Amino acid sequence: MAGSKHGAVMLVAIVIAAALFPTIPSTHAAASATTPKKPRLGASTLPTPAVVDGGGSRFSSVVFPLHGDVYPQGLFYAAMTIGDPPKPYFLDVDTGSDLTWLQCDAPCLHCTKGPHPLYKPVRNKLVSCQDPVCLAVQRATLSGKGRGCKPNEQCDYVVKYADHGSSTGVLIRDGFTLRLSNGSLARPHLAFGCGYDQQDTAGSAPAAMDGVLGLGNGKASILSQLSDAGLTRNVIGHCLGRHGGGYLFFGDGLVPSSGVTWVPMSRSTISGNHYSPGQASFYFGAQALGVKQQQMIFDSGSSFTYFAMQPYQALLNAIMKDLSGKPLKDARDDPALPVCWKGPKPFKSITDLRKYFKSLVLNFVSGKKALMEIPPENYLVITKPGNVCLGILNGTEVGLRELNLVGDISMQDMMVVYNNEKQQIGWVRTNCDRLPNADEWDGFEEGHCQPQYGSISIIPDPDQCPASYIQ
Ligand SMILES: *[C@@H]1O[C@H](CO)[C@@H](O)[C@H](O)[C@H]1NC(C)=O
Ligand SMILES: *[C@@H]1O[C@H](CO)[C@@H](O)[C@H](O)[C@H]1NC(C)=O
Repeated sequence: MAGSKHGAVMLVAIVIAAALFPTIPSTHAAASATTPKKPRLGASTLPTPAVVDGGGSRFSSVVFPLHGDVYPQGLFYAAMTIGDPPKPYFLDVDTGSDLTWLQCDAPCLHCTKGPHPLYKPVRNKLVSCQDPVCLAVQRATLSGKGRGCKPNEQCDYVVKYADHGSSTGVLIRDGFTLRLSNGSLARPHLAFGCGYDQQDTAGSAPAAMDGVLGLGNGKASILSQLSDAGLTRNVIGHCLGRHGGGYLFFGDGLVPSSGVTWVPMSRSTISGNHYSPGQASFYFGAQALGVKQQQMIFDSGSSFTYFAMQPYQALLNAIMKDLSGKPLKDARDDPALPVCWKGPKPFKSITDLRKYFKSLVLNFVSGKKALMEIPPENYLVITKPGNVCLGILNGTEVGLRELNLVGDISMQDMMVVYNNEKQQIGWVRTNCDRLPNADEWDGFEEGHCQPQYGSISIIPDPDQCPASYIQ
């Protein structure tokens, strides 16, 4: 399966809630109280994130350092502290699905060996099938076949991803230890999946993670639960570092007040519940790719970017045409990815590629001057033998049909913000190497502007950008 061989595609395909998984027998336990426990001050096993003030509002922000990279690891993950006593887990950051789950000793039927011991559920933490979060998980079912929910019955789920991986389990509610932007520790009790049967969770990914952090906009996501509890605004953002790492945040405290390109979230039937900035037209260098506008989805759970049939073919053609006469040869024998080239000598740095490859530009039609530049380093990878490979893959091969996924590779060194309250998606080019702190915060507000494309008719205000941005 291409999806598994070339990194994960953690875009949710189906969520099924079913009553047929008896691993944890139904119990008399109702869901535990939804009110967050009082913040506990004191020792924490969390890495200490920078303290960023939310601007004096009653809402806080929470920042998590990220680990991982696009290549070779193929995923970005956050360390979360969950349970009582609190224990660390590494969770794959996935904006393409709602449900957060941990590999779970319920006991486990199929788990991969992750970096930490399996989460151990206890009966009185089971979420009942009448719980709003369970209903939200069920509402996402394809069939919605009426299943008789008896009072206090457990809430079973199955979640399937676009790469055909899946997790089966039962919902649990337990404490998440979060350091808020004002320095306090909070221990809200949030519902998540205790996954005791994982199938085909993609390629190399499972070894690096204990579960998935589902950051979609559904009611089941822990972000919705945090905002319902009044802790943070229903806003998330991520900054995936070009050299690996980066950061993730909940709440709006880190969002720059200017310089961000915003577009409305699209609610088309094609994109379903996924985060979509709507339709985009494509440019390669200054040239239109000449394909019809395409529905785009931002999916941090996908290592690479996937294009539908037409734009994929058109992009390949444009690149080939551009490379003719240049000293790059096909290297289809490189096992890393399907389309690779060998240079006159092995490539070392991704900046070496700029003389051979142009930027790809997405022009989002729903926003004013809403361009996203995908420079060569955001669609190419250098493999171990020093070849350069295309990190934009054929979506038709993995069954994505007319969907186009903007994956991790194309979001590197960009802050991408999903504001579920204002129903907007925004992005701004930035360096993701360091957690932002108060000093840098000021820096964000100035000098960050969109790159310009002289030959595209939609040109940002020229005097807003330093000359080096102009191609
Ligand atoms: C920090 O913020 C949280 C919620 O936003 C609040 O409950 C807590 O009291 C605040 N702590 C301090 C020290 O201000
Ligand atoms: C993409 O994959 C589909 C399905 O396997 C195939 O028919 C098509 O030719 C591929 N496109 C390219 C450009 O390789």
